[in-house]
Amino acid sequence: MSNKETVLVTGGAGFIGSHVSKSLIEKGYSVVVVDNFNEYYDPELKKKRVESLLKGADFTLYRVDISDYESLKEVFKKEDVDAVCHLAAQAGVRYSLEHPFVYESSNVLGTLNLLELSKDFDIKKFVFASSSSVYGDSKKEKFSEGDVTDSPVSLYAATKKATELLCYSYHSLYKIPMAGLRYFTVYGPYGRPDMALFKFTENILKEDPIEVYGEGNMERDFTYIDDIAKGTVKAIEKDLSFEIFNLGFGSPVSLLGFIELIEEHLGKKAEKKFLPMQKGDVRKTSADTSKANEVLDWEPKISAEEGVKKFVDWYREDNCI
Ligand SMILES: NC(=O)c1ccc[n+]([C@@H]2O[C@H](COP(=O)([O-])OP(=O)(O)OC[C@H]3O[C@@H](n4cnc5c(N)ncnc54)[C@H](O)[C@@H]3O)[C@@H](O)[C@H]2O)c1
Repeated sequence: MSNKETVLVTGGAGFIGSHVSKSLIEKGYSVVVVDNFNEYYDPELKKKRVESLLKGADFTLYRVDISDYESLKEVFKKEDVDAVCHLAAQAGVRYSLEHPFVYESSNVLGTLNLLELSKDFDIKKFVFASSSSVYGDSKKEKFSEGDVTDSPVSLYAATKKATELLCYSYHSLYKIPMAGLRYFTVYGPYGRPDMALFKFTENILKEDPIEVYGEGNMERDFTYIDDIAKGTVKAIEKDLSFEIFNLGFGSPVSLLGFIELIEEHLGKKAEKKFLPMQKGDVRKTSADTSKANEVLDWEPKISAEEGVKKFVDWYREDNCI
């Protein structure tokens, strides 16, 4: 990929998509953002990301649903797309218990539509978001790309695994160069309001109790958004055939430890309501990042201490209070 080329970013108004789009624009790429601005969480935040992060930049925005093949095809006809960075998806483990069909339409059909169009329009590179959730409730110390990932414990995880398999089949059939990125609990400014850091910060400041699942014994490999954006751009630029990469910090933090960091930076204590593990949740995530390090020359830099501070600073200055 040369930086004069055009990258279509699906989910470009989303948390990760808007940061990746920003990084691509800064490197000189032309960016085409596709997003349906759905109401899974407040679409105002999606508008705000596009306005603040992509302010003044040269990019094109389409409000299109990727499950609508004909509308998506119009985008490919109008824009001379060189690469696709496919980040649009219905996220969230808990939401998938109550709204299963949107996972099928956005994550499975949406991905298939993009693959068909990528084949028909001779796309040179296809990078897509997968997830640490494909590892299921693994008991391994570190999760590696070669591990068996046949036991998803949520529908969300099953559709992310399905994404990997659909993509592999199109790579195998049509030789489209691809990279699949298994992201590990991404957090940072402009983050998702349904995720722990955002919800905890919001509630602690309002002096509302926070819900701590798994009695606080869960561990997550929290990974800062700037590291994720860098790794994603590296995967777009690297010459590859088909590879899957873990993008995680590589050092899990307990949920209680994470809450302590938030309390420290807010200067306020949380009122904790301990609850059992939720259906579909896993006890721990932990990335072996050696492959991304060797092949993509990617090394995450921002620790949870530093990253939580950056989030809290953004939340206070820029966002909601
Ligand atoms: N944030 C994380 O911790 C994390 C971890 C693992 C994997 N992922 C994956 O990374 C990707 C981005 O996640 P995110 O955290 O930025 O979520 P997000 O919800 O903020 O972003 C997804 C974006 O896709 C859009 N979208 C959803 N369905 C669509 C559809 N049918 N058509 C068009 N647009 C649609 C949404 O409006 C949203 O703006 C997703 O594929 C997600 O599964 C995220």
